[in-house]
Amino acid sequence: MNSTQTPPGDGAARPAAQRPHAVRPAADAVAGPGGTPATAFEGRGRRIHLQEVGPRDGLQAEERFVDTEDKIALVDALSTAGLSKIEVSSFVSAAAIPQLRDAEAVLQRIERRPGTVYSALVPNPRGAQRAIESRVDELNLVMSASASHNLANLRMTQAQSLAALAQTAALACAAGVAVNVSLSCSFGCPMEGEVPPEAVLAWCERCPGETGASGLTLCDTTGMAYPTQVVRLTRAFLERFGGIELTLHFHNTRGMGLANVLAGIEAGADRFDASVGGLGGCPYAPGATGNVCTEEIAHALQWMGYDTGVDLALLVQASRRLPTLVGHEVPSQLLKAGDRLALHPLPADFEQIRARAMARG
Ligand code: COA
Ligand code: ZN
Repeated sequence: MNSTQTPPGDGAARPAAQRPHAVRPAADAVAGPGGTPATAFEGRGRRIHLQEVGPRDGLQAEERFVDTEDKIALVDALSTAGLSKIEVSSFVSAAAIPQLRDAEAVLQRIERRPGTVYSALVPNPRGAQRAIESRVDELNLVMSASASHNLANLRMTQAQSLAALAQTAALACAAGVAVNVSLSCSFGCPMEGEVPPEAVLAWCERCPGETGASGLTLCDTTGMAYPTQVVRLTRAFLERFGGIELTLHFHNTRGMGLANVLAGIEAGADRFDASVGGLGGCPYAPGATGNVCTEEIAHALQWMGYDTGVDLALLVQASRRLPTLVGHEVPSQLLKAGDRLALHPLPADFEQIRARAMARG
């Protein structure tokens, strides 16, 4: 069995040097006429950053409170698997999101792997203070491109939110902590419908301008984005705000998650949020379900020749523990099926099966 045939999950038993490599050559990387790539999707070693949001976006949506020790073990497993950024928890009101009321304890006791950025979602200056004291590397501030969702999620108008973001960001700036702003409902709102791209881009201009944020995340909070829309908005963003680090955040609510990631890559984005096991969903957005699944995205991109920096076998191991933690199956298809070349032995009675099939015609 060569490295590309290794089923997910058996990587940890072997030394790191023998584990499946993070960059796999695309099996169909055959040059077309004149040496052009066979398809526009060839990764050719291009680096794509997968940013893990399962411990926050995933666990906030669960009914069951996951024990602090289990959360710590999950975050540690994810950093060992090579995720470049991990949203560890959120410093919000315990009444609003009781599942993440142990944010301090989790941040204090995780192992900090050099090179991994540990971030946390923060809704207000009080949350920023708590997060800074817990030594987060980055604050993820949130407001919505939709007025209705902003009210439902944060109980503020958008203007109030932006003023609050500026106050919150000032604390981060004084403490030397980076700031990212997540713009919910950038691809549509479950209460308002379409959110005009010009309105989204106007918030993209104001948010970093008024908060000093160095990164911006366009969030598809309830899985309303579709690929051509993603291409248009991503291109418009990159043309206008080239200096701001862009992340795309998709939910797989309508099965368009992976297609949207590929559309984003094609349009020039190279950072994507994803959630281990495909957990996720905002409790304050009707119909919200899981994020795009980290191991599914990593598996697809690695086979296409992108460099995700992720050890897929270790990531799948982390995902495999989730059903016990959350008390139900998780959406990940890869967890059920294994790597595309996870081969099964021929059945012992193969000849019989063939004879019966032939007899049936
Ligand atoms: N950390 C801990 N507690 C906080 C807090 C924070 N960052 N911010 C507010 N609180 C507490 C207040 O102390 C108060 O507690 P009390 O009732 O015991 O006095 C309570 O929360 C309400 O505070 P208030 O200032 O009146 O805020 P609010 O009720 O308008 O709630 C938010 C505003 C933003 C704090 C709250 O809605 C929230 O945390 N939302 C999180 C939404 C979220 O994470 N959604 C998913 C991610 S997209
Ligand atoms: Zn989300």
